[in-house]
Amino acid sequence: MGRVEGKVAFISGIARGQGRSHAVRLAEEGASIIGFDVCADNPQVEYPLATREDLDETIRLVEKAGGRIHAAVADVRDFDAVQQVLEAGIGEFGRLDIVLANAGIMPITGDERLQRESFVSAVEVMLIGVYNTVYAAIPHVRSGGRGGSIIITSSTNGIVGGISEGNPGVTGYSAAKHGVVGIMRTLSNTLAPESIRVNTVHPTGVNSPMVANEAFGRYVQQFPEIAENLQNPLPVPNGLLECSDVTDTILHLVSDAGKYVTGQTVVVDAGFTNYR
Ligand SMILES: NC(=O)c1ccc[n+]([C@@H]2O[C@H](COP(=O)([O-])OP(=O)(O)OC[C@H]3O[C@@H](n4cnc5c(N)ncnc54)[C@H](O)[C@@H]3O)[C@@H](O)[C@H]2O)c1
Repeated sequence: MGRVEGKVAFISGIARGQGRSHAVRLAEEGASIIGFDVCADNPQVEYPLATREDLDETIRLVEKAGGRIHAAVADVRDFDAVQQVLEAGIGEFGRLDIVLANAGIMPITGDERLQRESFVSAVEVMLIGVYNTVYAAIPHVRSGGRGGSIIITSSTNGIVGGISEGNPGVTGYSAAKHGVVGIMRTLSNTLAPESIRVNTVHPTGVNSPMVANEAFGRYVQQFPEIAENLQNPLPVPNGLLECSDVTDTILHLVSDAGKYVTGQTVVVDAGFTNYR
């Protein structure tokens, strides 16, 4: 019996990285998956975002793990598109229990980072996009009457400011990642009587295509004092967590083991925020 047997999870940014890792692991633990990804680049982001091929690979891996999946291309900034994917998935699987608002961008490198649009895009994808994901889902979790678990992926940058160049992109990233804590705190109080739990998860650097790319490598070479400040107190091989390390915490929170955890900023940060 899996730890989320028979449940249905809705995941944004599912085509690769942490979103894919969560999807495959929850499927291994008995959940059916509904998910979406933009599968297109963003002009404010120097590194490539996911592709249709990445999304197809997630579908393949979830099915290989024995799970069912309904996944489509959609932009988290478009509420109607998010709602459409979700409703099609619920049409197939009949219920909704778990929501992982995970999609994100890091518009902090390249000349684009200096434009006001980078602040705006960060907030559109990671604050308004989180609103879209969560608010599209809440009526369906509520109507099940069985409780549920909503997790928003924030960052250590949603708890501390860290040291940065203060470009508009990095300011937008931090603003969005702090902003989702407000969404989480409000909704955890609102939904507690219905046993729907809401938490944020705050990872330190994770080995996904968001940071394991040429643009980020160049950025930390250009600003060595920022690279210095990215070190974690706990020893972490190669300095980056694996996506599966974040998935372990997500699985704990969405399963029965987390049934009394709500309203929390849960760090997966190798001691990063405590040290600053
Ligand atoms: N990688 C890190 O070091 C790190 C650290 C802390 C927090 N995070 C957060 O973790 C989450 C997952 O990131 P990741 O590390 O897996 O990176 P990633 O780039 O591999 O995955 C992010 C996914 O979101 C998708 N996406 C981007 N814009 C979208 C949009 N408008 N609509 C729908 N999907 C969109 C991308 O295509 C990609 O598949 C993000 O919210 C990120 O901010 C990452």
